[in-house]
Amino acid sequence: MNENILIAIAWPYSNAEIHVGNITGSHLPGDIVARYHRLQGNKVLVVSGTDSHGTPVVIAADKQGKPVEEVYKQYHESFIEVFKGYGITYDMFTTTHSENHFKVSQAMFLALQKNGFLFKEFSKQWYSPSANKFLPDRYVEGTCYICGFEGARSDQCDNCGNVLEPEKLKNPRAKTGDGALELRDTEHFYLDLSKLEPDVKNFLKERAPHMRDTVIGESLRKIESEGLKARSITRDLDWGIPIPIDEAGWETKKLYVWFEAVIGYLSAPIEWAQVSGQKDAWRDWWTNPNAKQFHFIGKDNIFFHTSQWPAELMGAGEQFTEIFAGDKVKLTLPYDVPANQFMNLEGKKISGSGNWGVWGLDALTRFDPDALRYYLTVNMPEAKDSDWDWAEFVARNNNELVATWGNLANRVLAFCYKNWDGHVPDVDLSTLRPADLELLATIENGFNTVGAELEAVRLRSALSETMKLATVVNQYLDVNAPWSAIKVDKGEAGKTVYTALKAIDSLKVMFAPFLPFTCEKLHGFFNYETPLFGEQFTETVKDSLGEHTVLRYKSIEGLQWKPSDLQPGKKLNQPGPLFKKLEESVIEEERARLGK
Ligand code: MF3
Ligand code: ZN
Repeated sequence: MNENILIAIAWPYSNAEIHVGNITGSHLPGDIVARYHRLQGNKVLVVSGTDSHGTPVVIAADKQGKPVEEVYKQYHESFIEVFKGYGITYDMFTTTHSENHFKVSQAMFLALQKNGFLFKEFSKQWYSPSANKFLPDRYVEGTCYICGFEGARSDQCDNCGNVLEPEKLKNPRAKTGDGALELRDTEHFYLDLSKLEPDVKNFLKERAPHMRDTVIGESLRKIESEGLKARSITRDLDWGIPIPIDEAGWETKKLYVWFEAVIGYLSAPIEWAQVSGQKDAWRDWWTNPNAKQFHFIGKDNIFFHTSQWPAELMGAGEQFTEIFAGDKVKLTLPYDVPANQFMNLEGKKISGSGNWGVWGLDALTRFDPDALRYYLTVNMPEAKDSDWDWAEFVARNNNELVATWGNLANRVLAFCYKNWDGHVPDVDLSTLRPADLELLATIENGFNTVGAELEAVRLRSALSETMKLATVVNQYLDVNAPWSAIKVDKGEAGKTVYTALKAIDSLKVMFAPFLPFTCEKLHGFFNYETPLFGEQFTETVKDSLGEHTVLRYKSIEGLQWKPSDLQPGKKLNQPGPLFKKLEESVIEEERARLGK
């Protein structure tokens, strides 16, 4: 096959901790698909990073009374811990606050400007004379001009729910207490999306057949009914990427965070290429029209990924490479945007301020990563919002992960290890019985059916197909019962054990994208020389902005998405359990932790 696959995952804002909704929404599905394609022998690059700029980050820093740079870095380091802990194998998890990202974003801006897709326009914005600056809309509060509510945000009223035009707000005041406010004119750059509307529509129509209906609805059908309008791509803000033009008045402005963060999908591969010493390797995914790019995001980000980002890429055209690298090549457009819906918690929306959440790092202190990955996959909000329910978490862990899969692997391996002296039964393969061959054929076919689901990013279905195959092996064992057969005819029992072991060794590969930690452990029991997957590591990158940590992945050769070729007589390693059964009391303990 050998395809070039870019797995591009939404960049988390550095103003809040990562929770299970974020993990199941984008990082975990991205990792599962990445691991699958790596097993297929494809050339995979997984990228994302911390979305370090923008008003929410500045607000978070103000609240903590710390410099923005310090706050963004705290979150960035903790994100890296989460992804290491859950085994999200980023080839490059970086930050938008890097010299490389600044340069790439500015080159994109200039390319769009050169091609005539940017224009400048004045608008009115609240200004604080005492603080000597424009205030972001979220910093300004006042009385709603629609319903009269006194605590409305300038861009949105939480009382009547209307989106507001900031300049119409009555009695405006700064949340930060920055004195009286006045409306002043401010100039900004706009991306003329209306000019790119026909191109964006064509792009989406081409991809509609393989994109999720929820995603097409939010993008193509929306454009068809509302059209694409110009959007401002600069802000009056200190923190962020400078506007790359040499005119007075622009020094106090920055690129809008939603304009530049998406450019990370391009800048992160460029940074990856630099740090791995193959300067031009990013082109394998970016100037190769056959490369497939997948964007893993949550539903609130659909517009930016299906409309704005493709528009930026099409608008920049060959100018981008010319400005950035001195040649002229077109950049590859996204292939699929399998956006997920949201995951709630015990029936309510996850919320940081109400501490209503299951937090990524905290959950890892009490549960194994594969137990969490399992529940987050069977409950992934692929087609509609889903709900994390502690009783269901315990039940699915115990009844499926432990009872169906874990016990299967453990009891067959332990029985074999004990009765065949630590070796796979040395059976003559030509003597396998029809039922043995039938089981192995069923498992073998699973590589096609489960593989097809993974290619199409239907991960819940891929995992449940795999679990069904484990059930088939359990049924085979119930019928052939080697534990009693061994007392009568060890040779016959050996055929059953060999067949079951070979099926388990295959299921290990199919489960591996979902449950990489325990599959690696199981792979070790089978005593293979090379591991299933490579390793994660961190590195420090120094540049003119200072330094930042990046999370990386060292890939290894020779992994394969194909049935086991287990040899009779193979030496095994001492097996042990893969998963832990959870006590029912966990449900009440975890519920008691919520909302505190
Ligand atoms: N920071 C945004 C969020 O958390 C996602 C940004 S995705 C990117 O919703 F592509 F723009 F980086
Ligand atoms: Zn109102």
